[in-house]
Amino acid sequence: MKRIELNQILGDIVAVYPGAARKFNEYSIDYCCNGNRTLKEALKDKDVNDNDFVESLNKEFREFLNSNEKYIDWRKEDPRKLIKHIVDTHHRFTFDTLRELDELILKVTRVHYNHAPEKLLVIHKLFGELKLDLEEHLIKEENDLFPMIFDYLDNRSEKKRDEIFSYIGVIESEHRGAGHILSDLYRETDGYKLPEWACTTFKLVYRKLQELEKDLYVHIHKENSILFKNI
Ligand SMILES: [Fe+2]
Ligand SMILES: [Fe+2]
Repeated sequence: MKRIELNQILGDIVAVYPGAARKFNEYSIDYCCNGNRTLKEALKDKDVNDNDFVESLNKEFREFLNSNEKYIDWRKEDPRKLIKHIVDTHHRFTFDTLRELDELILKVTRVHYNHAPEKLLVIHKLFGELKLDLEEHLIKEENDLFPMIFDYLDNRSEKKRDEIFSYIGVIESEHRGAGHILSDLYRETDGYKLPEWACTTFKLVYRKLQELEKDLYVHIHKENSILFKNI
């Protein structure tokens, strides 16, 4: 998919371009439980011009695709190679960054609590949820889903394929869940706008949260739109 159109289903748009989740949340468009509607239907009662909305979404989507161009065209590669790449780069990066952020967020919450108690507690809580969900998600992919795919590729059967795709349903809903939390974090941090009192550690927290988000969108795109479409 090179372009997002108004007649596409919300859930499909987020699967191909996970960054759309943030924009949908900004406009209170429920792409999760009500993800079976088209973008046009979802925009019906919103105070926004349909074409302007889809154009600005496509502008972001193009930037996202271009930023990935320096990567290998994974659609042409063996899915086994893509899985190895996902685990070695994105999973490793996510585990490491979550661990680093965990310490940093605890530190700034304790040190700066009196500056903005509510904001800091919300960030602390949302990050805690994201960390728990993502760690479990990655462990499930590495121990359940990816071995199932390897096994299927070595010895294909309809039964194995059905099992894989029912598991993928769970995995994709977890991707949407992580996208929800990231959008909440974006909103609660005012788009990662630094407060006046931000110290070096606090600046590092915002920078690392944004790096985590950016990598996660690429990571989810590779799974939903390339790996799961090529097995
Ligand atoms: Fe993954
Ligand atoms: Fe995943």
